[in-house]
Amino acid sequence: MKFAVIGNPISHSLSPLMHHENFKALKLNAQYEALNIPPEHFHHIRDIIQAHALDGFNVTIPHKERIIPYLDALSPEAEAIGAVNTVVVSDNQWVGHNTDGIGFVKGLEQRYGNLDNARILIIGAGGASKGIAYTLTQKARYPIAVVNRTMSRFDDWQFDIEKHHLSELEQIAGQFDIIINTTPVGMNNVEESVGVLNALKEDVWVCDIIYIPAQTAFLKQAADQGYQTYNGLDMFVYQGAESFRIWTGQEANIEAMRQIVEHRLYQ
Ligand code: ATR
Repeated sequence: MKFAVIGNPISHSLSPLMHHENFKALKLNAQYEALNIPPEHFHHIRDIIQAHALDGFNVTIPHKERIIPYLDALSPEAEAIGAVNTVVVSDNQWVGHNTDGIGFVKGLEQRYGNLDNARILIIGAGGASKGIAYTLTQKARYPIAVVNRTMSRFDDWQFDIEKHHLSELEQIAGQFDIIINTTPVGMNNVEESVGVLNALKEDVWVCDIIYIPAQTAFLKQAADQGYQTYNGLDMFVYQGAESFRIWTGQEANIEAMRQIVEHRLYQ
């Protein structure tokens, strides 16, 4: 079996390392490569993938929406989210899926426990937010609240959420059991937080989908106040594990995948 991740840039992607570790743990004879595809070459994507004889591939920044017109079908969640990070190739038929939202939610559930009764607030309304919000709306009893800087971002959301402006964050944050930053603010050691967190519920979980650095300024302010924090490393691991499951029908070795990525990033 042969898989790949396509993106631009792609050289720093940890997906090949992570997937190879899973193949090794499962004793599978499979390959996973990183393909750099600049936007100006994207119209050749079907030829490129065919030339590499792939059985499936992941799609990352900046192609998660651009890939859609090239697909033969979309899963219901990819359709609702409007972005694709996993493509299954079978008999030259391409089916797009999105495992980012389920990846975050499955990872969080493993640590937090059942999310059914949690009141959840998401910060940001980009592709990652939409995936997580969509997955959570299928699960949680309470409406999912989303704050964003630009309210027009919600215009093409086809499922129900509670919309708020980012300026309301500080005022409403105390109502939630789980707060998730999905904006890129704080990535790559930028010492900036997307907002101020004060007077939260005592047992709140403050989460970030960023995992480089392991602790963003957003998570640090929460940790300094004694709140439970949770970064985006599990999301990365579980989105990969879900892609693998969609491609092969097999369960991935999550622990092997997490350990190799943690080791590379944090040790
Ligand atoms: P992704 O697909 O990775 O989620 P994206 O689609 O570029 O990324 O979305 C980024 C999100 O982060 C958006 O919600 C964006 O807010 P706007 O819709 O107002 O642009 C949010 N974001 C990015 N930089 C931000 C900042 N400095 N402050 C607040 N929100 C920010």
